Amino acid sequence: MQAFNDQIQLEFASAYTYLQMSAWCEAHDLTGLATWMRTQWAEESKHAIKFIDFVLDRAGEVDLRPLEAPARDFASPLDVFEQALAHEQRVTAAIGALYAQASDLHDYSSLPLLQWFLNEQIEEEATVRQIVAELRMVADDSSALLLLDREIGSRRDSGDINS
Ligand SMILES: [Fe+2]
Ligand SMILES: [Fe+2]
Repeated sequence: MQAFNDQIQLEFASAYTYLQMSAWCEAHDLTGLATWMRTQWAEESKHAIKFIDFVLDRAGEVDLRPLEAPARDFASPLDVFEQALAHEQRVTAAIGALYAQASDLHDYSSLPLLQWFLNEQIEEEATVRQIVAELRMVADDSSALLLLDREIGSRRDSGDINS
């Protein structure tokens, strides 16, 4: 169950990363992006809990450890979302490695949960990649950025991401 504990750690680290990103967006008056990031924080916390419940259901031991401080210096909203995309790609790789390890160990009971997470990662990467593309289009046009910010904030409220 150590590998699952590592994944719990990574999901909480993701939540922490998004919370820091949300604070950066809020401090830069991008309230829509901040809302989007904070929803993501809640989402990642739910992922951690999902793994915790799985470990407990299988009579494993949950081993929470200290979290490292997330990155907090960003050059632009585009930089924030590019870092978010890179982070999601690392998470996808980690879940893929967990899936491979569970298969090797004939731990078939873990595969449906890990498959759920792999599907979730496809969606999350696609969503973040889309926002990165939109922020690139906006470039240095601050009125376009303001409109996009508002739109992304409300897009999140209408729930384009499943939990
Ligand atoms: Fe996650
Ligand atoms: Fe994620």
